[in-house]
Amino acid sequence: MFHPRLFENRNVVVTGAGRGIGLEVARQFLDCGARVLVHVGRAKDRALPDFLLTAEEDRRAFLIPADFSSGRETLEFAAKALTVFDSLHVLVNNAGTMFGRFPADTLTDEQYGSIVQLNQTSVVELTRALLPALRAAQGAAIVNTVSISALTGGSPGSAIYSASKAFVATYSKALARELAPDGIRVNCVSPGTIETDFHQRYSSPEKLEQTRKSIPLQRLGTAEDCAPAYLFLAAPSLSGYVTGQTLEINGGQLIC
Ligand SMILES: NC(=O)c1ccc[n+]([C@@H]2O[C@H](COP(=O)([O-])OP(=O)(O)OC[C@H]3O[C@@H](n4cnc5c(N)ncnc54)[C@H](OP(=O)(O)O)[C@@H]3O)[C@@H](O)[C@H]2O)c1
Repeated sequence: MFHPRLFENRNVVVTGAGRGIGLEVARQFLDCGARVLVHVGRAKDRALPDFLLTAEEDRRAFLIPADFSSGRETLEFAAKALTVFDSLHVLVNNAGTMFGRFPADTLTDEQYGSIVQLNQTSVVELTRALLPALRAAQGAAIVNTVSISALTGGSPGSAIYSASKAFVATYSKALARELAPDGIRVNCVSPGTIETDFHQRYSSPEKLEQTRKSIPLQRLGTAEDCAPAYLFLAAPSLSGYVTGQTLEINGGQLIC
């Protein structure tokens, strides 16, 4: 594990952190001494683990819900973040989901709009709103969650989701160049098939077992497999010369 003071006196925002990959990322930042604004997802009353509640009492974690399907709530969330932190060292844009599997011929405008708003537009909106605070920190980092499906296209019914992740991957590369003069690095973590609620919703046990067998390391990934990649890419002392890159965490599911 990383040094317990790696992120001491560092301000971190992690979205989509009430469960799954984001929750583990928030836990590891807290374990390394950061102050973490934890976007806990949409619900105010989500049951949260004790470590988050304890960190909140200690004023090291700040727990804020918001529904990023709404542009208004996304901006309100950003405004709250700016009242908590006047400078921001790390922004992890991780909130996202597939919503469902939608065949290309029956995809509705509403389904299309929801997928794009959450996975793509909210990342742009949040990044834009928090940029002044990122600029105010010395050597800030943005780490965006994309997906193996950004490269492969994903499986049937996930075209718009996969394309939205590809958008974020390319957006991140462009930002890496644009923000380099500000000392802000921009990178992505690209999970493969990770055992969280995500696949409980969108993939059958049979599909997951078939995937597992196709993975060179012969197992699905976990949130614990993913989280260290975020901390690595966020820490100038570990990855200060890395920007515009995507780190694939997939057990060898995609090697290219
Ligand atoms: N699991 C995988 O295999 C996999 C693979 C590639 C990429 N990813 C990506 O990894 C990220 C985390 O996924 P996960 O596996 O940890 O899934 P998860 O357990 O379902 O967590 C998703 C997080 O995003 C939040 N979220 C969903 N819809 C939202 C909305 N409308 N507004 C605000 N927050 C919302 C969720 O909040 P609620 O609790 O309110 O729903 C939750 O905190 C996502 O971007 C996902 O696309 C996952």
